[in-house]
Amino acid sequence: MADIFSGKVALITGGASGIGRAAAIRFAEEGARVFVADLNLDGAQAVAAEIGGAASAVQVDVADYASNQAMAAAVMAAAGRLDVAFLNAGYYGAAEGLGTVDEDLFDRLIAINLKGAFNGIKAVQPVIADGGAVVVTSSAAGIVGHPGNPAYSASKHGVIGLVKSCVDAFAARGARINAICPGGVETPMNGIPDVGVVPAGSLPRVPLRGFGRAQHVAELALWLASPAAGFVNGQAQLIDGGLLSTFAPVVLPVGP
Ligand SMILES: NC(=O)c1ccc[n+]([C@@H]2O[C@H](COP(=O)([O-])OP(=O)(O)OC[C@H]3O[C@@H](n4cnc5c(N)ncnc54)[C@H](O)[C@@H]3O)[C@@H](O)[C@H]2O)c1
Repeated sequence: MADIFSGKVALITGGASGIGRAAAIRFAEEGARVFVADLNLDGAQAVAAEIGGAASAVQVDVADYASNQAMAAAVMAAAGRLDVAFLNAGYYGAAEGLGTVDEDLFDRLIAINLKGAFNGIKAVQPVIADGGAVVVTSSAAGIVGHPGNPAYSASKHGVIGLVKSCVDAFAARGARINAICPGGVETPMNGIPDVGVVPAGSLPRVPLRGFGRAQHVAELALWLASPAAGFVNGQAQLIDGGLLSTFAPVVLPVGP
């Protein structure tokens, strides 16, 4: 692929780090004018500077609707159009099972991951271009439960319901909306630097034997937003190295 987003404008939330940063770089490589949006303005500015050209940084708190509206307005004021919104900002928190998820963490996860997705969808829908596309980051934990962080899993399940429910609203504008569902990815959210190498076998249940890379997920977002995926709509696409393709091995009782 080359220059598939030439003349187009792409907005990427959570763009200061991990998957969002990798996507911002890829969309720019394909010719898009990129707006890197994040709560972390310094980080967003660093990514925009890394990309160079017409890339810009925008500060947004996705948990706040007015902030999302201001983000969309800033893109429209600066670029006059919005072709792609990759609504990817997210939060995990320190959780290791139900007992460690208190009410505050639950509220924060729902506010950022679920309400944040709702806010972004609501803010971009009125301005998305005909032929445009929205991609929202859910998770493999949005498809199956995640005992380590039930609130995160609930928030990401909700994202898929939102995406499916908004197909008609976007179709009315000639645009598509899909979700992506990464499994474990090497990003700061997992305490792993984007450039790191995770030892083989560290996630033994993943058939590809490890974490995915932010670049893997960026490629999926890029494809889903591109004309090549022009008939893919309302889907929740896993990208997990095969993690959810089988159930966990169980020890079956020995028969008679
Ligand atoms: N890394 C994984 O294994 C994994 C797996 C499945 C899904 N995801 C999802 O992928 C997305 C990207 O995560 P990542 O792994 O790149 O993590 P990351 O921590 O590297 O990046 C997340 C970004 O979101 C930003 N952010 C957090 N709260 C925000 C808010 N309120 N407003 C605006 N920006 C905010 C952070 O500042 C950060 O730049 C998230 O939605 C995450 O839940 C990640």
